[in-house]
Amino acid sequence: MSTARARRRGGPTLIGSANALRGMERFYGDLSEGAEPLDVALEVVKIVEADPRDHSVGLGGLPDERGHVTLDAAVMHGPTHNSGAVGCIENILHPSEVARLVMERTDHCLIVGPGAYRFARDHGHPHAELLTDEAREIWLRWRESMSERDDRLPPRAKEGEKSGKVIRGHSGDEVAVEDLLWDERITGTIHCSALGKTGDVACTTTTSGLAWKIPGRVGDSPIVGAGLYCDQEVGSAGGTGRGESAILANASFAAVELMRHGRAPADALREVLERVKRQAKRASAWQPELIREDGQPSFDLQLYAVDLGGRTAGMSLRGRGNYAVADPENGPRHEPLVGV
Ligand code: GLY
Repeated sequence: MSTARARRRGGPTLIGSANALRGMERFYGDLSEGAEPLDVALEVVKIVEADPRDHSVGLGGLPDERGHVTLDAAVMHGPTHNSGAVGCIENILHPSEVARLVMERTDHCLIVGPGAYRFARDHGHPHAELLTDEAREIWLRWRESMSERDDRLPPRAKEGEKSGKVIRGHSGDEVAVEDLLWDERITGTIHCSALGKTGDVACTTTTSGLAWKIPGRVGDSPIVGAGLYCDQEVGSAGGTGRGESAILANASFAAVELMRHGRAPADALREVLERVKRQAKRASAWQPELIREDGQPSFDLQLYAVDLGGRTAGMSLRGRGNYAVADPENGPRHEPLVGV
């Protein structure tokens, strides 16, 4: 029996990005009563996939540079050590459910693009228009503001005047639409890791990815080891934020491996995020915009983890905003993300 297994087993626990709180409040009771962790994690994220107000996931997600909403999602199941994912899928409301179908109804781990859409339709998922009017208008503003040397004109505003319009990021922090156009490209997402009553683990991550991305770009969310990972002998972890940094650090796998070797979730996440910082500094020799003048990364990455003992942690490069957690001691709630 591994060291992690030998520790006290924790009670039913959920952890994930701040936007998972609503789902946790609704479904934590089911987990406590013995529901399957994967079923519960999926119910949690599906609420946000169907919510047009969250511009980082599913319906209402911000589109790629051509105005197409493309989604990435994955699930991982501890008891069978299996996973399924879809990348760059369009016009399907619940990519997380399709990811589960990939896991349960195929011998593959990842299906992308039109093939993923076709696969979803074959399994009865209806065609859905995901670009809402609000997301389309924000995208249009971005296109009009992109260059002073094209023929597109943004709506007239007095100098320095902001529309006052804000959208909420997945960590719960508010971003002004004007800042989103230039400073804060949304790399939202929702992640949920679950530890069940009997000690089974599972996780899922689902996203509309980076706003204004190059068509075809796939982030960390559908990549097992990057945007999510779980191991029945250890626990579960996942990430939101700049997907490229999570891919390059294999962040979720790294966190689970550190926990396997005895680290508490908080120590594991801290080490991975410190690693991400060092990697960004090295990469900045070629891509200077990755590091700000004060030497810190110009982007954020949030990581979440739970071990089999029910210990949890939520950390990020910037320590801005919240994460969501639900455990037997205190139920579902927001906790502040700890910065590194
Ligand atoms: N973490 C979401 C993305 O980068 O696509």
